[in-house]
Amino acid sequence: MYQRHPSQPTGDPLDLNVVPKVGIIGVGTIAEALTMGLCAFDDQRAEILLSPRNDTLSRRLALRYPNVKVAADNQAVVDESEIVVLAVRPQVTEEVLGALRFRPDQQIVSLIATFSVQRLSSLVAPANEISRAIPLPPVAERQGPLALYTQSAEILRLFDGLGSLIRVEDETHLDLISAVTSLMGTYFGMMGTVDDWLIERGFKPEASRAYVGELFFNLASAARNRSEESFTRLSADYSTLGGLNEHAWRELQAAGWADHLQAALDLILDRIHGHATFDTQLPGAANPRVDQGKR
Ligand SMILES: NC(=O)c1ccc[n+]([C@@H]2O[C@H](COP(=O)([O-])OP(=O)(O)OC[C@H]3O[C@@H](n4cnc5c(N)ncnc54)[C@H](OP(=O)(O)O)[C@@H]3O)[C@@H](O)[C@H]2O)c1
Repeated sequence: MYQRHPSQPTGDPLDLNVVPKVGIIGVGTIAEALTMGLCAFDDQRAEILLSPRNDTLSRRLALRYPNVKVAADNQAVVDESEIVVLAVRPQVTEEVLGALRFRPDQQIVSLIATFSVQRLSSLVAPANEISRAIPLPPVAERQGPLALYTQSAEILRLFDGLGSLIRVEDETHLDLISAVTSLMGTYFGMMGTVDDWLIERGFKPEASRAYVGELFFNLASAARNRSEESFTRLSADYSTLGGLNEHAWRELQAAGWADHLQAALDLILDRIHGHATFDTQLPGAANPRVDQGKR
């Protein structure tokens, strides 16, 4: 339990009620999940001040948690916070941060995958203690992997226990993790493809989803429980020699499935590094385009 703000005045070392003031700019999917994680189990490890966008989400969080409030605007979030969490989309980051005045004593935690510490430093100057984190939606229940790149003991304490904390020493490894987290949509996309196949052949949707969910849940559990073993080993253990699993995987590999997956990861890493955009496609791909506004 995080009770004491380490930078509190040393004249009052026994006051356990002082907690850091954490401001969050950009209250969307991940900021909501992070706020819920920070406040889970009635933990009040921080006073949280949210930007008024998104209005619905920030108001809902403030109504739910006594230690969460909504600021009048983004500058008020910065002015009243010791730790500022950046959770806006990359597309608006420069515009949003460019309009704000930071202080040298503030700590910054960026959740924005495509902005390196170096790129952020001119945008948040004179603040110069910049950490990066990759929480994922299950952080709301203090579950899932939470990657953190920081030199700050205070930030480490703030995020401690919000999931399986993976602290990276090298910022480039955080970019690799960011690329890998881009496969969440693909994971559910694969389940959806299997689901469609079952439904087209007569399964009721509820029965299909229940089966597919249970199957993938158990496979994911096996991967986590046997993390000392390679995935090749797990694949072999779950595949009868000459059986259906070996057959399906052999054909998918022969069709380039594994290579495509790694090529997609390379492309996402390029995008994280600013060398590709949402419009960049894999060579030879005829991707179905998704209208961003309709998602
Ligand atoms: N989703 C994830 O799993 C995840 C995981 C790790 C990191 N991230 C990173 O976290 C960031 C946010 O992702 P997200 O999925 O939470 O996106 P999101 O749901 O679109 O949230 C972004 C929020 O920023 C708000 N916003 C837009 N302009 C603003 C402004 N000028 N001032 C303050 N707030 C503003 C939006 O408000 P409106 O709704 O009013 O437009 C929206 O609520 C991204 O950089 C992403 O790379 C996301």
